[in-house]
Amino acid sequence: MAELALKGGAPVRETPYPAWPCWDDEEIKAAEAVIRSGKWGMAQGDKVLELEKKFAAYQEAAQGIAATSGTTALRAALLAAELEADSEVIVPSYTFVASGTAVLEANLIPVFADIEPETYNIDPDSVESLITDKTSAIMPVHLAGLPADMDRIMALARKRGLTVIEDACQAWGSEYRGRKVGAIGLAGAFSFQSSKHITAGEGGMLVTNDSGFALRARSIVNCGRREGGAWHEHDRLGGNYRLSELHAAVILAQLGRYQGMLERRQQAAAFLREKLSAIEGLRPLKLPEYATASSCHLFILRYDSDSFGGLKRETLIKALNAEGIQPAHGGYFIPVHRQRVFLEKRVGSFDLIASHRFRGKVIDYAQFECPVAERACGGEAVWLLQNLLLADREGLEDIVRAFEKIRAHHTELLE
Ligand SMILES: Cc1ncc(COP(=O)(O)O)c(C=O)c1O
Repeated sequence: MAELALKGGAPVRETPYPAWPCWDDEEIKAAEAVIRSGKWGMAQGDKVLELEKKFAAYQEAAQGIAATSGTTALRAALLAAELEADSEVIVPSYTFVASGTAVLEANLIPVFADIEPETYNIDPDSVESLITDKTSAIMPVHLAGLPADMDRIMALARKRGLTVIEDACQAWGSEYRGRKVGAIGLAGAFSFQSSKHITAGEGGMLVTNDSGFALRARSIVNCGRREGGAWHEHDRLGGNYRLSELHAAVILAQLGRYQGMLERRQQAAAFLREKLSAIEGLRPLKLPEYATASSCHLFILRYDSDSFGGLKRETLIKALNAEGIQPAHGGYFIPVHRQRVFLEKRVGSFDLIASHRFRGKVIDYAQFECPVAERACGGEAVWLLQNLLLADREGLEDIVRAFEKIRAHHTELLE
């Protein structure tokens, strides 16, 4: 009789994992209060301001600037950093596409660095090898909430006079050597999009300790207005990237219960790290000693298909899903520099990359070599999504049982 659920056997688990988002009366009361107040925009109400203060304090930064999304926050940060147009910003190739496209949309040139094999975060050696006299900034991504190697990145930035903008869109509460991420560099961007740990469906936030940057960023997200200026007075190029009061109220309610949920995810991740490391062919991403706290946005494993007789990651994922381990998937499957937007320069009028010269030649994204990112996308990375980390002990043990079962019977899945 078949054992594996994919082959008709009984699944390890029939009960679904906790759904995301989680909410209760707090979100409903908060949204209702805004609706009843009639103050739905930030110009009328005080929820956006309250969120900016509370979120900045949570991330140990002096100021927060709310935006409509992580993407618009990144774009606003790059503009507020006043980087020279057509200068190069080094970003990792293993990330959500916005880390690269926000650079294009700020009239800058993304240059793609590889990632470290054990953490999947931007590799400082790769960054160093890509610095040219046109580089203006480095944008590390704290992937899955695991802080990037900020000491090395900041040291490089200081040595070469570069700005650091952190893509902290997955890193609420993450700490680098005991310090919250986001304002270690000039500024950091966070996302409150629907898959994120703190969400109102959409939303974003910048944090910074630099008051000049904050002033410019506030103006950019608010149509170029000046603090204290008239409503119809516009000092600079900006956009309407303002968060609504409704979003801010819901995010505030989510923030209120965040720390408890974070600790729960961290305990779950520690359990999975210990148990899954013991299974041959699975290596959870390393938690370096400098990563004193991770948001545990995703639990990412490095899967060694050779040790499973060549079983493809996609089949492993199907088998996991069939055992009731959902949501689990392979995550990013195209490194950002290989997305068509970059390879074919499908960028509309943001076309500086049509003529920008990188190392003496017109930039060609097919030329970037990021073998570790290619490997992660191509078949190594396995993502267990955040909902799984909210499971009770039995739910976590089921994840381990499912991997053990597939390991024991993997030959039945080989074609
Ligand atoms: C690493 C990273 N950067 C940027 C973003 C963009 O955030 P948003 O979806 O809020 O625009 C995301 C979210 O998907 C992300 O995960």
